[in-house]
Amino acid sequence: MRMSEGSQRLDLRATKSNMNKLNRQLILQSRPKGLLAPGDLQLLETPLPELQDGQALARVKYLSIDPTMRIWMAADSYLPAVAIGEVMRSFGFAEIIESCHPDYVPKIPFVSDTVFLGVLGINGLTAFFGMEIAQPKKGETLVVSAAAGATGSIVGQIGKIRGCRVVGIAGTDEKCNWLIQDLGFDAAINYKHPDWKKKLAAATPNGIDIDFENVGGEIMNTVLGLMNLHGRVVVCGLISGYTKEDPGMASLGTILVKRLRVEGFIILDYASRFMEAATQLGQWKMFGKIKDRETIVEGLEKAPDAINMLFTGGNIGKLIVKV
Ligand SMILES: NC(=O)c1ccc[n+]([C@@H]2O[C@H](COP(=O)([O-])OP(=O)(O)OC[C@H]3O[C@@H](n4cnc5c(N)ncnc54)[C@H](OP(=O)(O)O)[C@@H]3O)[C@@H](O)[C@H]2O)c1
Repeated sequence: MRMSEGSQRLDLRATKSNMNKLNRQLILQSRPKGLLAPGDLQLLETPLPELQDGQALARVKYLSIDPTMRIWMAADSYLPAVAIGEVMRSFGFAEIIESCHPDYVPKIPFVSDTVFLGVLGINGLTAFFGMEIAQPKKGETLVVSAAAGATGSIVGQIGKIRGCRVVGIAGTDEKCNWLIQDLGFDAAINYKHPDWKKKLAAATPNGIDIDFENVGGEIMNTVLGLMNLHGRVVVCGLISGYTKEDPGMASLGTILVKRLRVEGFIILDYASRFMEAATQLGQWKMFGKIKDRETIVEGLEKAPDAINMLFTGGNIGKLIVKV
């Protein structure tokens, strides 16, 4: 999906029926340095194109705001970079409002829309398959960074379901309280407190068996230093490096000395198993074993600011733009 309110599969010819309707799009004008600056993404309004046979018109209701968007804006990685002048790419939730395609029927969604962006969307799926890689065993200690975010908060709850001691790392006391009081984490450490490293060591008296890594940099190095021999490191994301020219590397020496097993993954590799994971996540959500929270920003024009919130810690749980 692209960051626009109409479908990208449509061509650019305006028609009688759609002539008065506008398609609002965010166009990538320049590659950001650090956080997004005003003008890196520019709002453009174009006439809505004519619907052709085999096409459907979708109205985007919500955009999923994900750290990987900053990667897509910078350079080719696991997907090609968004080209300069192209509509910005994002996941999202859209409603089919007109269709000339037999597989896309206009209908009103019947369940809460935004759940498809968080628990049943990219973040829930990422947490699910990342925890499969982690192979958690009852009684083991799991540490997850960016713990109060969309992915980390679900990772920790899956850790509890699997019988682990779960310790989260997050950037405010409010986030840490939410993790312990509402989500059932055993401990949560605010990495902005000066003595957070000591607190993390105290919260993991039996060492760390699993590092679910969302942040990288100093946080990852500190966690690796506390890991038990033969621990597992699931490299899900390295957000502390996404806005930097030189993202820095985790200590390979620690990985060697502690004989750690390190595995990175990209959720798109698991596409053929999404339904299986969503069924399990849906059950956990239905039975209250997974709780979620959303930070909703209103308006497509606010999407660039919303992307920056991910890097300043402005969100709790899933960050969404309501278009
Ligand atoms: N491998 C995959 O396929 C895949 C899929 C989805 C997501 N991911 C990765 O998972 C991670 C979390 O993504 P998400 O979508 O769930 O976002 P999120 O956790 O909801 O939001 C990002 C959070 O990261 C924290 N953060 C940002 N910069 C930081 C820094 N320099 N040091 C420490 N914490 C920092 C902030 O919270 P604080 O207040 O705690 O700082 C922020 O709220 C990202 O690294 C993302 O790239 C990977």
